[in-house]
Amino acid sequence: MKELLHPDLEYVLYTKEEIARRVEVLGEMITQEYRGKELLCVGILKGAVVFYADLIRAIRCELATDFMAVSSYGASTQTSGTVRIVKDLNEDIAGRDVLIVEDILDTGLTLHYLRRLLMERNPASIRICTLFDKRERRAADIQADYVGFQIPDAFIVGYGLDYAEKYRNLPYVGILSSRVYAK
Ligand code: IMP
Ligand code: MG
Repeated sequence: MKELLHPDLEYVLYTKEEIARRVEVLGEMITQEYRGKELLCVGILKGAVVFYADLIRAIRCELATDFMAVSSYGASTQTSGTVRIVKDLNEDIAGRDVLIVEDILDTGLTLHYLRRLLMERNPASIRICTLFDKRERRAADIQADYVGFQIPDAFIVGYGLDYAEKYRNLPYVGILSSRVYAK
């Protein structure tokens, strides 16, 4: 069934079918890599939850789950540059193979900080899987090991991604109209 476009969006960037196909491919790649290892998937709240829920079901090897919440943009579309841990992991990651699952890698400041923090806890490895990557916006020295889609510099919402806590429940991903954040 064709989705009606939300009036605050310019257009749909990826449909729910396109996202689902890509998530399956990412799941297969991760399955190949982590078979026989101690995979711990760490979802970054809240933006990654929708992607995370689909991704772990596309991974066909044993895994454990955990979540972290870090402060991010608030109601603006610009990064503040400061990262605060709002919720830490429950699991001890020493000796484990950690896969950080993120919705979108933008300036990279958040994940750069997070990776450094988790490295101090002596995991066997840390890799990053992000659904979206705005590579041209990168300000920190970080890249993802698994990327769903490379996207241009535009503000996107849906499939977990928000603007001022809205639009997370859209099943597709679209470009937010500048009318909305110019208000
Ligand atoms: P970074 O530290 O600049 O890489 O910020 C990453 C975080 O900013 C993501 O986890 C998102 O929460 C948020 N973010 C960056 N770009 C977008 C976007 O286009 N739409 C929604 N959230 C975004
Ligand atoms: Mg996020």
